Amino acid sequence: EDAERDGFEHYMLKEIHEQPSALERAVNGRVTAEGDVHLEDFPSGSFAGVDDVQFVACGTSYHAALYARQLLAERGVPAQVFSAGEYATTPAPVDENTLVVAVTQSGETADTLASVRQADAAGARTLAVTNVVGSTAARECDDALFIRAGPEIGVAATKTFSSQVAVLSLLVERLTEDITGSPGEDRAGLLRALDRLPGDVQQVIDQSGPAGLADRFRDREGHFFIGRGVGFPVALEGALKFKEITYEHAEGFAAGELKHGPLALVTPDTPVFAVFTGRHDEKTLHNVEEVQSRGATVVGVGSEATPEVAATVDDFLPIPDTHPAAAGVLANVQLQLVSYHVADLLGRSIDKPRNLAKSVTVE
Ligand code: G6P
Repeated sequence: EDAERDGFEHYMLKEIHEQPSALERAVNGRVTAEGDVHLEDFPSGSFAGVDDVQFVACGTSYHAALYARQLLAERGVPAQVFSAGEYATTPAPVDENTLVVAVTQSGETADTLASVRQADAAGARTLAVTNVVGSTAARECDDALFIRAGPEIGVAATKTFSSQVAVLSLLVERLTEDITGSPGEDRAGLLRALDRLPGDVQQVIDQSGPAGLADRFRDREGHFFIGRGVGFPVALEGALKFKEITYEHAEGFAAGELKHGPLALVTPDTPVFAVFTGRHDEKTLHNVEEVQSRGATVVGVGSEATPEVAATVDDFLPIPDTHPAAAGVLANVQLQLVSYHVADLLGRSIDKPRNLAKSVTVE
């Protein structure tokens, strides 16, 4: 087994390190030299005529779907994201112009499959975004788009999240063009950022910033994660990863929601992780000051080119300066490493956390 882990102590750490190559595969061949997005030819053809995009997903995949929704919203394309467990019991109305996108690493999650089956029966077009060729989702949906992350053994999803976001970013560009008739305003910048993402992720991994901080988060009352824009799903994913493998209490919030309740929980014993993507950073900095004035220490994750962020937070985990759409992926890698190192210090069962399964095949 040690050989399969390539000398890494855990599959999770190996899979964190595999992200640069997984991201290369995710994008490889899908962007033309002219800067057009060229995804596989879907049997159902163009997305022109789609007037409602609904994502259904669970867990980490749900967070990747939230990320995609944010990118679509920024391009003027409305979309909704549903937790598949909810959608399976209370489906949203659909018709033949609805595209239901199942985001599922395994392609076998029962709630996600139940959701797309219902949408299909009601006449919607369905698309699976999955890692597993031949999975039930890939076979049953009208179309399939593969994230090419390679097998993921650790129960806590890491490289599949990054690859989902990369592939969904390309899908977002394709949907924007097909639905609105013109490419996203920012397409060239986003594609450039995706192109350099493998190298940028490698840089984050090589810095190994979180290893030195982990000791501070072993025995705290709670851990909060905040962000806005794509930083919000990254905050949710950071908290999910933290609770999954450290067994310590963690919650993620939209930064703007802090003062609507969560702030009551903030004390000197609740560290706050704040995600900065380069978009609306000044608002998130204001939230940082709010929690600092309640005594909380703040770990900021943001661009190395933002001295004002670095100067305000108590600890800073830098990421390379890039497009905001890619910054979320980089910030997430830092948070994966935070969770990993805290869980390792606590001696947790990192690859197989208690009570959790890699793929949940019952509703
Ligand atoms: C389980 C796993 C999570 C995963 C979720 C959805 O809960 O432990 O890591 O995010 O299922 O899985 P899927 O295969 O549909 O992405």
